[in-house]
Amino acid sequence: MTENQAQIDYWNSAAGLRWVTHQDRLDALIGHIGELAMDAAHPAAGERILDVGCGCGATTLALAERARGGRVVGLDVSAPMLARARQRVGDRADIELLEGDAARLPLPAGGFDLVFSRFGVMFFADATAAFTHLHAATAPGGRLAFVCWRALTENPWTSIGLNAMAGLDQSPPYDPEAPGPFSLARPEKVRAVLDAAGWRDVTVTGHDVPLRYSDDANLDAAAEFYSSVGPVARILATLDEERAALGRARVRTALAPHLGADGCVLPGAVWVVTARAS
Ligand SMILES: C[S@@+](CC[C@H](N)C(=O)[O-])C[C@H]1O[C@@H](n2cnc3c(N)ncnc32)[C@H](O)[C@@H]1O
Repeated sequence: MTENQAQIDYWNSAAGLRWVTHQDRLDALIGHIGELAMDAAHPAAGERILDVGCGCGATTLALAERARGGRVVGLDVSAPMLARARQRVGDRADIELLEGDAARLPLPAGGFDLVFSRFGVMFFADATAAFTHLHAATAPGGRLAFVCWRALTENPWTSIGLNAMAGLDQSPPYDPEAPGPFSLARPEKVRAVLDAAGWRDVTVTGHDVPLRYSDDANLDAAAEFYSSVGPVARILATLDEERAALGRARVRTALAPHLGADGCVLPGAVWVVTARAS
């Protein structure tokens, strides 16, 4: 058991399977956000790169394309998501996929020029310890670049669903500091964690990002995808049929004002964080 066991269990449960089932649509939903982080990371030819919480492998593949002649290691705790990543990577010699906890798995000291993550570093029980471990795996002067969510209040793509599901389940009150999507939402916390973990020249840059749940004015399709993965799906999985139906109906109603001729688009907000290893 590690201090991250609850998250390891979560990402190996139905949650990980939902990401596998909807991998294509999720990559389309957040692909442009990963590109923001990748532009900030500027991976270069021949570099050794670690993709933390690589999930189903989209960014691992993209990093390998950018770092031609280099080597990319994708690391994740989720066996089902890694299995999907392995299918996509095939027998490429420049990519290795590892199953393990990024906070603990032994990694070569100074073995990476760049540590990257698209939404994979917010789930550590002890963020400082985890980023210290990742720092030790980074060559002196090497880079860190990741993207994480800003506060829940700035991310209607989540709050709309949580508000729609309010009162339907027995979830404890939302704790923004707990391991989870919004645990690095406070820039002062990001800076404190990275400083304590040995990283220097920290930058935290905000971006407003649209999340497109459908490409046309099909409300049912948008509501179905929205409810299939993420916070609403997690709650729906705990409800009996009657409450789940009520929740789905509420979600559909809540999404309606965000539907236009070119699709259902919800606002989101992220931080792109960069730093340098001392
Ligand atoms: C929100 S998903 C993002 C997946 C992928 N980066 C993407 O953008 O498609 C978060 C990922 O972080 C992984 N994860 C969570 N805690 C982790 C840990 N301690 N070590 C490695 N991976 C972890 C999860 O298994 C999951 O794949």
